[in-house]
Amino acid sequence: MNRLDNTSESTQAQLPVDRLGRALRDVRISVTDRCNFRCRYCMPREVFGADHAFLDRAELLSFEEITRLARIIARLGGRKIRLTGGEPLLRRDLERLVEMLAGVDGIDDIAMTTNASLLGAKAGMLRDAGLSRVTVSLDSLDPERFGAISDTQVPLARVLDGITAAGDAGLTPIKINTVIKRGLNDGDDVLDLAAFGREHGHIVRYIEYMDVGATNGWCLDDVVPARDIVSRIGAAWPIEPVDPNYSGEVAERYRYLDCDGEVGVIASVTQPFCSTCTRTRLSAQGELFTCLFASRGHDLRALLRGGETDDELEQSIRGIWERRTDRYSELRTDETVDLPKVEMSYIGG
Ligand code: GTP
Ligand code: 5AD
Ligand code: SF4
Ligand code: SF4
Repeated sequence: MNRLDNTSESTQAQLPVDRLGRALRDVRISVTDRCNFRCRYCMPREVFGADHAFLDRAELLSFEEITRLARIIARLGGRKIRLTGGEPLLRRDLERLVEMLAGVDGIDDIAMTTNASLLGAKAGMLRDAGLSRVTVSLDSLDPERFGAISDTQVPLARVLDGITAAGDAGLTPIKINTVIKRGLNDGDDVLDLAAFGREHGHIVRYIEYMDVGATNGWCLDDVVPARDIVSRIGAAWPIEPVDPNYSGEVAERYRYLDCDGEVGVIASVTQPFCSTCTRTRLSAQGELFTCLFASRGHDLRALLRGGETDDELEQSIRGIWERRTDRYSELRTDETVDLPKVEMSYIGG
């Protein structure tokens, strides 16, 4: 065995695992807490209104700070980056960050979750900068229902144009994330969206509505179990389950037997996937969260700006990961719903 092999083996051996034996693989980076939509289940206007205090620019991590942390997390096993928000395209010059992250050793996939309203103008630049693909949040193809759910003046047509631009730029496969809430979009929308995915080759994933944050008034009755969605799609078109693309994939995948496409469900309420959760989340102001349902994060910005070296930062993040015990979705009960939790718009989905 040559020296290089020895080096990589010893680095492998040192990768941290948390208290439940889970490695650190995915890094979800929120670049802004702002959004131009006010989806009822995520940023209800009563809470996120005109007088809501969003983060000031100086509070946000700079692109250099984000890239530095990404490099350190990649040394600890991070392989995949997802840019989120709020709406990540509200952050000016985002393509510059993408380019910087694309240069980080070890990162092999950079995806972005977006509402697509600003994608039309940016898709080509983002692709050129090194973005691999996009996932678009879209809950209805009915213009009125879309407007009501997203509580925005942005017309549905602009979102659809954004999706087309992403396809033209090669930001594929495009995934469409649809949160299903009972009584809101669990009617015609389900099959309409599936048909849209089949027609355009996009992967639609139906997400069980979750009790994230403290503002959406969640209750279990609002959740449509993913298995019901699978039965409805299966009754409309023939489908069969497919193996996950990678260990820890949150979506259950199905392929259509009568065309090339695939569709998925994310059953985070009825079939939690905490046991394989390798995700860490960085807020726009530099707090590291080890769970979507955490009430607090770890302030990495203070360490960055306080002069810690890369090695010291690496030790700090390693320590945070090695102490991790999160498994909220497996522990969810009526009582946990009211625990204090960070807002989804603050750390991305
Ligand atoms: P790829 O497989 O890389 O395309 O992405 P992904 O499916 O891991 O990420 P995406 O952001 O598309 O996840 C879709 C949705 O699944 C999110 O919006 C959340 O609603 C849910 N989700 C993702 N990660 C977690 C998680 O760690 N915990 C829980 N409870 N839900 C999650
Ligand atoms: N439950 C499930 N998914 C949610 N998202 C936002 N709020 C919720 C919730 N309460 C998803 C959005 C988007 C991503 C940012 O998170 O649909 O795809
Ligand atoms: Fe914005 Fe996405 Fe939240 Fe809707 S779900 S308010 S588009 S961050
Ligand atoms: Fe991971 Fe927390 Fe989601 Fe469980 S609830 S899958 S630990 S982020």
